[in-house]
Amino acid sequence: MDLLIKNGTIVTAKESFVADIGVEGGKIVAIGKDLVGETDKVVDATGKLVLPGALDVHTHLAMPFGGTVSADSYLAGTRAAACGGVTTIFDYPIQHKGETILGVINSKKEILVNEACVDYAFHCCITDLNGGEILEEMERAVEAGITSFKCFLVYKKENMMVDDGTLARLLLRAKELGAIINVHAENPDLIDLNIEKFLAEGKTSAWYHYLSRPEFVEAEADKRAVHWATHLEAPIYIVHMADKEGLEACIEAKKSGHEVYVETCPQYLEFTCDVYKREDGRNFVCSPPMKGKESQEALWEAIKTGFIDTVATDHCPFQSYEKDWGKDNFTKIPNGCAGVENLYPYMLDAANTGKLSFERVVELCSTNPAKIFGCKEKGSLAIGKDADIVIYDKEKDFTVHVENMHSDYDHTIWEGKELHGYPVQTYVRGNLVYDHGDFVGKPGLGRFVKREAKINL
Ligand code: URP
Ligand code: ZN
Ligand code: ZN
Ligand code: ZN
Repeated sequence: MDLLIKNGTIVTAKESFVADIGVEGGKIVAIGKDLVGETDKVVDATGKLVLPGALDVHTHLAMPFGGTVSADSYLAGTRAAACGGVTTIFDYPIQHKGETILGVINSKKEILVNEACVDYAFHCCITDLNGGEILEEMERAVEAGITSFKCFLVYKKENMMVDDGTLARLLLRAKELGAIINVHAENPDLIDLNIEKFLAEGKTSAWYHYLSRPEFVEAEADKRAVHWATHLEAPIYIVHMADKEGLEACIEAKKSGHEVYVETCPQYLEFTCDVYKREDGRNFVCSPPMKGKESQEALWEAIKTGFIDTVATDHCPFQSYEKDWGKDNFTKIPNGCAGVENLYPYMLDAANTGKLSFERVVELCSTNPAKIFGCKEKGSLAIGKDADIVIYDKEKDFTVHVENMHSDYDHTIWEGKELHGYPVQTYVRGNLVYDHGDFVGKPGLGRFVKREAKINL
């Protein structure tokens, strides 16, 4: 064996039990009591939790957006991921008019092969069908292990939005291929109407970012996307759900047996729209924005009852000077916030303080994302799976400061957040990449995760 982790409490989505884990060739080869193996790498995990690494299925690294590029390179973003117990990230490269899916993906792979500190996969954002060629190419993308695609129902002026007809074509094609479409749902026309009105009235602070895209603006698009998907009998995954009304529409569809998946993010669970009234409100600007208390409570409720399937981050940080572009005009604030290093610690703190179970956190952050997106070697601690392992100390207290994060950004919305319990080690396929506060991995260690179309949940 290459590694033996002894006496930890192993947590899966279903149960927790004390046992040892043996690792060989990057895989889990044994789980049981009193394992013995020929190895000098023995880790005593007595009193600690041993968890599967998280999959952050929503990141935007080095992404051109909002007149700049998101602040974390592939290296910095995956280094931060490792230090927060995330062992696989899913990035969202964007296909623009005239580009091919595989062209875009391969250009990202060329960077990641040298820079990735954890494993990686892609959902490709499709913004233009190139006269139908992209629908053809989707088959080759699926064969290459890209089994999910995204479309934006917003971001008209960024040339990223698709219309409803394109959404329908993508849903049908994905269904045919055993793939899935992820949707960013907000209504662009309502947003434009509100922005025009507020700017004309001289209402330019970050608070008007929220008021230009409040609850019903997101709900309209959630409902429309789910309506199309259910009638076309195609699976759909709604990213970064933040509003109650849209969530309820998804829950109804799920209850009727439709394949609708819902993701939310830690920022919607932690903050409400009140943050936009703060002097530094612009730093919290992301789309969709944080919503009111009622929506937040509905999200937590659905986390507990099982109607939310995944929690991921939408990690898309920008530097302070970039956020400052919108000091006097909220439409000039690049949209997005940091989160990849905070996801697992935040959700595990919620378990540690009694809000939900550790098993449910594993399900939301690891097991479900692996199943929904076809990563059959990820998402659980079981024999034959990749040895993506996090050792978690329930008694270690940690306060988030930008200085103890491992990204390249210069501020974080999580500044000052106190967490009870924190990861102490992260392993990617048996390789130690994070050790008691320090990144100890190496760029280039991460591998592309070739996924499989449609596996049974
Ligand atoms: O504000 C956000 N979320 N920025 C990243 C792009 C997106 O919409 O997911
Ligand atoms: Zn989005
Ligand atoms: Zn996003
Ligand atoms: Zn305690």
